[in-house]
Amino acid sequence: MCGIVGFVGKQSAAPILLKGLKQLEYRGYDSAGIAVMDADGIRVEKVSGRIARLCEKTENGAAVPGSIGIGHTRWATHGAPTDVNAHPHLSNDGRFAIVHNGIIENYLALREELISDGYVFQSETDTETIVHLLEKYYDGDIKAAVMKTAARLEGSYALGILCADAPDTLYAVREASPLILGIGVGENYFASDVTALVAHTKNVIYLEDGEIAALTPGSIEVYDCTGQRLQKPISRVTWSVEAAEKGGYEHFMLKEIMEQPAAVKAALAPRLHEGEIRLDDFELSEETLRSVSKIVITACGSAYYAGCSGRYAIEKLCHIPVQVELASELRYGEPMVDEHTLVLVISQSGETADTIAALKECRAHGATIIGIVNVVGSTIAKLADHTLYTWAGPEIAVATTKGFTTQLAILYLFALYVGKKLGRVEQAQYAALLRSLKLLPKRLQETIDMNYQIPALAGRYASQSLFFIGRNTDYAVALEGALKMKEISYLHAESYAAGELKHGTIALIDEGQPVIAVCCNEALCDKTLSNIVEVKARGAKVLALAFRGNKKIVSQADDVIFIPQIETVFSAALAVVPLQLLAYYAAREKGCDIDKPKNLAKSVTVE
Ligand code: AGP
Repeated sequence: MCGIVGFVGKQSAAPILLKGLKQLEYRGYDSAGIAVMDADGIRVEKVSGRIARLCEKTENGAAVPGSIGIGHTRWATHGAPTDVNAHPHLSNDGRFAIVHNGIIENYLALREELISDGYVFQSETDTETIVHLLEKYYDGDIKAAVMKTAARLEGSYALGILCADAPDTLYAVREASPLILGIGVGENYFASDVTALVAHTKNVIYLEDGEIAALTPGSIEVYDCTGQRLQKPISRVTWSVEAAEKGGYEHFMLKEIMEQPAAVKAALAPRLHEGEIRLDDFELSEETLRSVSKIVITACGSAYYAGCSGRYAIEKLCHIPVQVELASELRYGEPMVDEHTLVLVISQSGETADTIAALKECRAHGATIIGIVNVVGSTIAKLADHTLYTWAGPEIAVATTKGFTTQLAILYLFALYVGKKLGRVEQAQYAALLRSLKLLPKRLQETIDMNYQIPALAGRYASQSLFFIGRNTDYAVALEGALKMKEISYLHAESYAAGELKHGTIALIDEGQPVIAVCCNEALCDKTLSNIVEVKARGAKVLALAFRGNKKIVSQADDVIFIPQIETVFSAALAVVPLQLLAYYAAREKGCDIDKPKNLAKSVTVE
């Protein structure tokens, strides 16, 4: 999704902007541009396609002099990914240049109004309306023009603004789209994502909705939407530059798969204290939990599948009904949510527009919200009543891996915590489950180590169409495995609850059809085995996934991927890893752009 960077200081701005944009590449984009200002005014350079083209066009920034500028990577929404539609956009008088993340919902009405005022549009974007509004409202006071413009906008926006009349000041404003200010020494920055700032500074200010910032080389001032000066807290980023780099791996996705043991350890260890689970700085009392009539989990994509898997753990250990809802559906439904509902909102980025909207909808119905979020200071983390950070570190690849397994780790921890508080998990069972959970990082490492044969299996099973099947928590793994395969290898993959095959899907099984059968739920293994037998009888080629030592599976499947033993309720966190690797190697074999799959964005900040 779109990315924003801004710089003001004494150095040449363009190389810094280009470097920042490269840090944001992982978010997904289809065009890029920069605007840099010097004594001759504002100069804009933009291209469709990759940042490498922009670097070439600007001689790595050397051709665009000036020490103040803004940059953007665009993921097309309004208008095709062309040079003209790329940001920055200039006002007709050339005085303002802007970059924008988000969507202006009332842009058509604004566009008509501005055209009748005589403004000429170059692009098809919603963004261009903003720059013409700035020109319209400007009477010598830039901050006032920004405030008046912001007041006309409906929708979401993070804006970076240059004005030729303020040669040493960058302006920024946000509403429902992230923007972070970076504090340097004699220079300052902004970016839509902290990963573009960590190479320069660890000291940041998170801009809130409705706030406007003015940055010069030596100062940062933040105002509310009425123009009142605000005192903003400075936060310290703990991510290192190395954490956002590939570290010798061919792709971020592979690096992040390999980081899962450490990431899950980072998620679990600080919350486990001598046989006790502690939920950071909040506690859910037994009384509070007894008043909870149901738990709603809402999220999108893989985070939703983490929720599907978490549901089994919570229902099993807490005996509380759990409803898992796609955020994009919940936000427009009639959610059966009230003050007795506990809502778990899951999001790696914490910025997913649908998930934020679902959170707000549940809040409006009186529910208590717990965010399960990776990115510190993100919108969901701030909106939730309580936040459980997943501590996975920066996840750069568009396809989530460590983000997903750390979400599962937190859901398991939560289930065990609540189950124990409510007395629904007995002490002996609790101790055994806790022991098993503590071993999860070690078991993840074993899972990675024992699956050296996956590149070869990917070669054998990757085909134009694949089926993933499983029951119960294995079904959640099948859903995530199929999504991984689709999003990075562009192969068609369907996931089915194994028992559903005979209700229609089995008609698609023909000679040689690959079926990936997840079979790690020991109680249901015989049931899934019957489904394996059924598809094999119709010619399918079956790759099964099971606990080490499962002899029955070996006798029925064509190939088996093993994972180490763990309590079944936690097995999804291990079982998903071979499927991540299978998708990775299938995509690599096809030569796909693994870290930046086509049409996808890391953080889906628009609806
Ligand atoms: C996962 O590989 C996907 N890229 C996608 O489904 C993702 O999980 C979804 O967009 C939700 O993102 P979030 O966790 O940042 O909210």
